[in-house]
Amino acid sequence: MNNLGTSSYKGVRDFYPDDMFVQDYIMSVWHNVLQSYGYEHYSASILEPTELYEGKTSDEIVSEQTYSFTDRGGRRVTLRPEMTPTVARMIAQKRRELPFPIRWYSIPNVFRYERPQKGRLREHWQLNVDFFGVSNLNAESEAIQIAYDIMKKFGLTESDFVVKINDRNILNEIIAELDLNEAQTKEFKILLDKKNKMDNFNEKMEQLIGRPFNETIAPNKTITRLTEKLNAVGIKNVVFDPLLIRGFDYYTGVVFEIFDTDPENSRSLFGGGRYDNLLDIFDAERVPAVGFGMGDVTIREALAARNLLPKPFAPAHLSICTVTNSSASLEDISEYANKMAKNLRQSGVDVVVDYSDKKIGDKIKKAAKTGTPFAVCIGDQELEDKTIEVKELESKQTSKMNPDDLASFIKSKVN
Ligand code: HAM
Repeated sequence: MNNLGTSSYKGVRDFYPDDMFVQDYIMSVWHNVLQSYGYEHYSASILEPTELYEGKTSDEIVSEQTYSFTDRGGRRVTLRPEMTPTVARMIAQKRRELPFPIRWYSIPNVFRYERPQKGRLREHWQLNVDFFGVSNLNAESEAIQIAYDIMKKFGLTESDFVVKINDRNILNEIIAELDLNEAQTKEFKILLDKKNKMDNFNEKMEQLIGRPFNETIAPNKTITRLTEKLNAVGIKNVVFDPLLIRGFDYYTGVVFEIFDTDPENSRSLFGGGRYDNLLDIFDAERVPAVGFGMGDVTIREALAARNLLPKPFAPAHLSICTVTNSSASLEDISEYANKMAKNLRQSGVDVVVDYSDKKIGDKIKKAAKTGTPFAVCIGDQELEDKTIEVKELESKQTSKMNPDDLASFIKSKVN
């Protein structure tokens, strides 16, 4: 029999506690900022009918990157590669009951069969922020403000990132001027979408349009107005990028991405835009919408590169270490330690009890290694006297006291 390997499936994620600590931190920033804008949290299943993605999303994702299978009842099922079709489906389903405008956010894990590399994996958690029911530029401006606030909350400054904006209508005009047929248009969009990952972009573009592609493209009224609106709320690192495309068919107007300016980490941290017609696929009435997605993998890299990730803190304030040479009293000591822990937790102290057979010195070392600030040993003597000696693991200072005074002692030191 082959040995079963311990690696996870390629490109998906195991979160050991130190990683989970960082993950929880990233999510807490997302929750805080979204709540400050009055967005409501929603969720949905990882599984969706495959057809949901086939109408109007991205050819590349549907034909090359989805995890799809047929269930036991013969239905085609896909692990969501993104959240936008799901949220559009949910809105379409209840559009008559829902009070517009609607501000919703979610943090789903999404799956794309991509070549795993720095900043890109096959599973990532993606903050999705979507605003339905407003067709004017205040919606785009709010989405970009939220993205900007998230970056600031993580400790990044304007020089760390740039907000690139474009309008699909500008792109459509370029396509019309170039007089491209349907297949060429598709190719043109694919080239633009991949331009940052290609060495031979200019060459390929020239092959496609029959001459070098070097037009100067001016911002339109929408882009000028949006830039002014963002400048007015102090967002200055906005640039017009006429070749920013975003690879989804559903965008109808403004599109935007936030890019890391670190050349080592030059990738998109957020991407989004206006998508006013996506509900058409459900034959539902048109609902104007603006939204964006931001992945956990890319922001983690950006924060790690700048030393902005938090260090995990200790799992508890106190470790109670049981110790005895007499097996007769082991049960009594464990029970006493457990009761003491229970009382301390009720007073707001986080406690672990080390019931293992390790030597007392090793128990203290283990507590110190996890950063636990205090330890107390409970042995036969402590059980008898009902007094304890608490040790501050960093300074190695010890203090004797009555167990009833321990909670206030620890709380006065950690807060
Ligand atoms: P997207 O540009 O495909 O947009 O993804 C948004 C963000 O998710 C990217 O900027 C990146 O941070 C992250 N991301 C995407 N693919 C991967 C990957 N393979 N590994 C790690 N991170 C990744 C969308 O998905 C749109 N549905 C966003 C949206 C919401 N538009 C409107 N509302």
